[in-house]
Amino acid sequence: MTATNSNSGHVPAIEAKQVHKAYGDLHVLKGVDLTVEPGTVTVILGPSGSGKSTFLRLINQLETLTGGEIDVDGEMIGYRWEGEGKKRHLQTLNDKQVAAQRAKLGMVFQKFNLFPHMTALQNVMEAPVQVKRMDKKEARELAIKELQRVGLGERLDYYPAQLSGGQQQRVAIARALAMQPEIMLFDEPTSALDPELVGEVLSVMRSLADEGMTMIVVTHEIGFAREVADQVVFMDGGKVVEQGGPEIITNPTSPRFKEFLQHVL
Ligand SMILES: Nc1ncnc2c1ncn2[C@@H]1O[C@H](COP(=O)(O)OP(=O)(O)O)[C@@H](O)[C@H]1O
Ligand SMILES: [Mg+2]
Repeated sequence: MTATNSNSGHVPAIEAKQVHKAYGDLHVLKGVDLTVEPGTVTVILGPSGSGKSTFLRLINQLETLTGGEIDVDGEMIGYRWEGEGKKRHLQTLNDKQVAAQRAKLGMVFQKFNLFPHMTALQNVMEAPVQVKRMDKKEARELAIKELQRVGLGERLDYYPAQLSGGQQQRVAIARALAMQPEIMLFDEPTSALDPELVGEVLSVMRSLADEGMTMIVVTHEIGFAREVADQVVFMDGGKVVEQGGPEIITNPTSPRFKEFLQHVL
């Protein structure tokens, strides 16, 4: 039996089905469908305000859906409406289930938000110790390993203020990795960096991709998308306008995506 024509036993890392999100009257996401396969890199492109961050925040349950469904590892996260009309009811997860689903996801933001009074090592150890109740010695070993993974094995005892923006973002990536997520979500991880520091962060992300990490990356780095993405998604106005392999960057079909690429390239 081939995997290509059978879905049995196959579970996507993330599956979004007709995802809607509104803030009051502002309808931000208008039916987003997206499937992310394990071990692949999905790059989301799109203009400011198109709903990219909102979508990542929904996956990580920092926001709640107003419609549709998101599954992580085949299991629903957040909540969904079941039934129709007056029989409609809300199906929710309990706190333990939410925490278990969230633990599968690591997130890296544009702003690194490291604790300024803690060294790189202490920043990376913090969540394993505080959230997972990991033994300090074990957490220290893990944090050293993750800082080495992002090329900062020589900077363990530096404070954030003593590190460049690129190094701080790499600490933030190590901090997310220390929670041993199955999926990494990146929201414009290089947008706050000076141009000469962008490359070192992208190169860490590229090596994570090479290791087989499942990743969703919101970025304006078209070169990275072209070289690293398995799947490229262009969002505009709360919808997926175009989607395909990295070749869609070279051969966009929708006028809106063409126009966007002319502005960022
Ligand atoms: N908490 C919020 N309350 C109200 N509106 C929001 C909130 N978060 C985002 N929005 C609005 O949702 C839209 C999409 O935002 P966002 O997801 O941040 O877009 P992007 O990341 O693509 O730039 C924007 O119009 C933004 O102002
Ligand atoms: Mg954003």
